[in-house]
Amino acid sequence: MELQKTTSGEYTLYIPSMDETYHSRNGAISESKHVFLKEGMDRTSGNIRILEVGFGTGLNALLTAQHAEASNRKVHFHTLEPFQVPFNLVEKIGYEELETEAGLFNAIHRAEWESQVKLNENFTILKTTQKLEYVKLESNSYDVIYFDAFAPKKQPELWSLDIFQKLYDATKPGGVLTTYSAAGQLKRDLISRRCKRLTDLRCYLA
Ligand SMILES: C[S@@+](CC[C@H](N)C(=O)[O-])C[C@H]1O[C@@H](n2cnc3c(N)ncnc32)[C@H](O)[C@@H]1O
Repeated sequence: MELQKTTSGEYTLYIPSMDETYHSRNGAISESKHVFLKEGMDRTSGNIRILEVGFGTGLNALLTAQHAEASNRKVHFHTLEPFQVPFNLVEKIGYEELETEAGLFNAIHRAEWESQVKLNENFTILKTTQKLEYVKLESNSYDVIYFDAFAPKKQPELWSLDIFQKLYDATKPGGVLTTYSAAGQLKRDLISRRCKRLTDLRCYLA
């Protein structure tokens, strides 16, 4: 893994063997705010439970924690990450400069895995090392799903109907799944008769 500068000036991580980045090459922060906060969290109200697929650098977690505080909401943030980014690399990306509460980014990364950790009045995090394919998710329990896996072409096994069905089952009625991918096959699958139930799930594709 190596640092890569986006066209907006901030950094993301790049995996040469996959030719894949952790965020949009056009801007990590703008992508996170638009796709996950605006099209995800902001489409719900009150206190919520969020499931994130892919904790990665912790950028979505940090921005969500800050948004929760700014909007005076309580968020329980469950994030999955089977392949942790070494903290010495995370530190170099510079996202802690976005902090509105000193030490929050560090606290998110230092939070013990597999434990619910309350970081402040508005944000509790649970980090799980299990893969999405194998993790057991409580049904009807999440208001918002941040689907931030690597791209469909790089990780097709995570973009299957079975996986979306699993996420649908874990989502509360009226919940939101949001992702950055505009992959045509995903859109076709979601509206196909084979996954009719998924048409109830609001899926915002950029
Ligand atoms: C696009 S990056 C996520 C970026 C992250 N949300 C952030 O704010 O930096 C995709 C993440 O999915 C993780 N991942 C890969 N396979 C996974 C799996 N089977 N289940 C859950 N997460 C997985 C990767 O390790 C990677 O951290």
